Amino acid sequence: MCGIVGYTGPREAYPIVIKGLKRLEYRGYDSTGVALLNGGLKVYKKKGRVADLEEFVVGADLHSHIGIGHTRWATHGEPNDRNAHPHTSASGKLAMIHNGIIENYAQIKKDLSKKGYSFTSDTDTEVLLNFIEDIKKNNECNLEEAVRIALKRITGAYCILLIDQDDPQTIIAARKGSPLVIGVGKGEHFLGSDASPMLEYTKEVVYVNDYELAIVRPDELILKNLGNETITPFITKLDMELAAIEKGGYDHFMLKEIFEQPSTIHDCLRGRLDAAHGIIRLSGVQNNIDAFKNAKRIMIVACGTSWHAGLVAEYIIEELCRIPVEVEYASEFRYRNPVINKGDIIIAISQSGETADTLVAIEKAKEQGAIIFGIVNAVGSSIARISHGGAYTHAGPEIGVASTKAFTGQLAVLTMMALKIAKENGTIPDERYTKLLFELESIPEKVEALLANATAIKVIAEKYKGANDALFLGRGYNFPIALEGALKLKEISYIHAEGYPAAEMKHGPIALVTETLPVVFVATKDSYHEKIVSNIQEIKARKGKVIAIITEGDEVIPGLADDVFFVPPADEIMAPMLSVIPLQLLSYYVGIAKGVDVDKPRNLAKSVTVE
Ligand code: G6P
Repeated sequence: MCGIVGYTGPREAYPIVIKGLKRLEYRGYDSTGVALLNGGLKVYKKKGRVADLEEFVVGADLHSHIGIGHTRWATHGEPNDRNAHPHTSASGKLAMIHNGIIENYAQIKKDLSKKGYSFTSDTDTEVLLNFIEDIKKNNECNLEEAVRIALKRITGAYCILLIDQDDPQTIIAARKGSPLVIGVGKGEHFLGSDASPMLEYTKEVVYVNDYELAIVRPDELILKNLGNETITPFITKLDMELAAIEKGGYDHFMLKEIFEQPSTIHDCLRGRLDAAHGIIRLSGVQNNIDAFKNAKRIMIVACGTSWHAGLVAEYIIEELCRIPVEVEYASEFRYRNPVINKGDIIIAISQSGETADTLVAIEKAKEQGAIIFGIVNAVGSSIARISHGGAYTHAGPEIGVASTKAFTGQLAVLTMMALKIAKENGTIPDERYTKLLFELESIPEKVEALLANATAIKVIAEKYKGANDALFLGRGYNFPIALEGALKLKEISYIHAEGYPAAEMKHGPIALVTETLPVVFVATKDSYHEKIVSNIQEIKARKGKVIAIITEGDEVIPGLADDVFFVPPADEIMAPMLSVIPLQLLSYYVGIAKGVDVDKPRNLAKSVTVE
């Protein structure tokens, strides 16, 4: 949430910062701003997207070899020019950008106001900046020391970048709870919320940890903790190419990412799944195998789409491994004082690896003796780093705000995990184990086959784009897919949608059924098939419009539904990896038909680093 970029070195800073902000726009796009040093401090900021700022600065003197930039997802104060970052201090000498929330800002603001400070914005950021300047003045210390003192007195989450007119080559940066990556170049440094702004300049990066402060100059990177002890920066080599963060000929990242799924699922399975030899190699599970074998229960914590992957996993793990599983929203789990016993396994699922609620939930569980297993897409992210073990989904950077390929990657990892644990526990018959391994291996080509028919979904989308509401129903493994289909439609097309277990629909949502309500059934061939056919009948009897996602060869549902989309046959455990894809496409095409900016839907952000 909020994207931050910084540069110090011999190049012109502005173009680097602007390009970086465009890559980080997935994190928020309410307002944008940059601060440069050229003689004095120059700040340009504007409500709206990066493109609006670019228009705004036409003709301005943008020459500078140092710069910080911010793209905002508003927390404190409405999105407008005033509240846009960077903020400047009372003296006009310091500029700061911030990602996070300072929880005790109101008290600090009150204290500063008593001292005569006034504020031009409604933000917590401006308060923190003036707090830092006030400490610097009163303690007669340098900026670095003032930042350290201030950060020890605040509560909340932050990643901040600061520049000072009196020290025109230095960026001071610090993080707690919000991500910060520093790219190390030759005589230059790059800073970002993730590594995408620095990809074409350097492959050497430092992931800054919580409670660390960096003093960044062209030739120097000094890392310290808040106790002023120097820390040796740990340099990681980036394994990411520029092409991975570009659209590659597609109109939108979301569409590109949907169509990448045959290869991303394949990448996820590659080197791990060896069906011919009956082997699953997941070192993270293997290294913790005794913990998994002895686990009395597994808890899964996640948010959004990742939470839906957790729900599918609950069904799969309980079925195959016979270990009780609970799935929790991380935001509830972290505050509700859950019972955690030593040895409980917590699986955190997260695309970004930075979702604040998920991160704090597992930090708390870790303190109480739980074993933390992370299923994460973003390599080197906070959740990956604090987990005891884990498995990456290897889906590559996901930039469209609505999660697609990360979700199927999560399902692939979770299925492999469940199969491996079941095999170790002896809870799966050999024959079924072997069959499922081959099934899993065939999923990428089945995804490819169904994507070849994507235009059929476009036709359905055109037909229903005018709907005000929609209902998504599924049973068993496809129930979480119904939830995911509804979430996607809400996010990308702004149509109100509800996901429900198909049978439970009789206890409420059936009251909504009229002849204009589209009801999407996720009804692939599985052990619940006859039951869901009855549910379709119940909707048809009330004249609802039925769109059904069904298995090739189904001869019953085409005679009942108004529209059908076929997916290749698969074992019911694997079906979600197929049945979700037409729903991703449906939301995409409805969104496009309605003129929604599908990669940046209203009010959403990809990485939610505030609670
Ligand atoms: C945001 C995104 C969703 C995502 C959720 C959880 O709401 O828009 O696409 O599912 O956060 O994010 P995570 O990175 O933890 O999977």
